[in-house]
Amino acid sequence: MTREPKPVGAEQFLPPGSKSLSALRQAAADCQGCPLYEAASQTVFGAGPAKARLMLIGETPGDYEDRAGEPFVGPAGRVLDRVLDDVGLARDELYLTNAVKHFKFVQRGKRRLHKTPSQLESAACAPWWRAELAAVQPELLVCLGAVAAKAVLGTSFRVTKQHGQLLDPPDPLPPNMRIVATIHPSAVLRAEDRDTVYKGFREDLLVARKALDG
Ligand code: URA
Ligand code: SF4
Repeated sequence: MTREPKPVGAEQFLPPGSKSLSALRQAAADCQGCPLYEAASQTVFGAGPAKARLMLIGETPGDYEDRAGEPFVGPAGRVLDRVLDDVGLARDELYLTNAVKHFKFVQRGKRRLHKTPSQLESAACAPWWRAELAAVQPELLVCLGAVAAKAVLGTSFRVTKQHGQLLDPPDPLPPNMRIVATIHPSAVLRAEDRDTVYKGFREDLLVARKALDG
């Protein structure tokens, strides 16, 4: 097995002054913190209001997001829209981002097939979502899928065992928020029994909705 060289990381690409969302977004456009920027079209930064009470973190942009430059605008985004609507959360009131900000894929003819980012790439990109978290200061952070959950809660975290629990943030995340981990919306699309998987997803997001309701 070839060992992956450690990426330089996003830290040095953070803006030197203001860490506002717009300053971060502008700086992230030029990030070369890991090799993923080379093949992707653009950085897909987070989107949503600067003072959202709820922040959602996904995995990595897909083919649609890479072209559009916006998170969750493809098929996974439609599953997400459905579940948000089902539990009574408004998408335009939450801040939506990804653990890794460039699309990772393998080219197969004309198609670009999603690849899961490595833990090294996830770690390299973490300064961006950490800075988004510091700027937005949400009351609740929802991790969508294992890549986001491991980035936020540590690599030993298991979504299959710990989904839907209201968790306290590990150091050095802001202590005054809570975290809920759940599956990635694309897991619903991949599932044989979509209804059952979707129901579990909805239950986890209901935990998030209720936490926000107090
Ligand atoms: N999957 C993700 O994790 N994020 C997106 O933005 C799109 C699909
Ligand atoms: Fe930078 Fe993240 Fe893109 Fe890698 S994936 S180049 S760390 S923004």
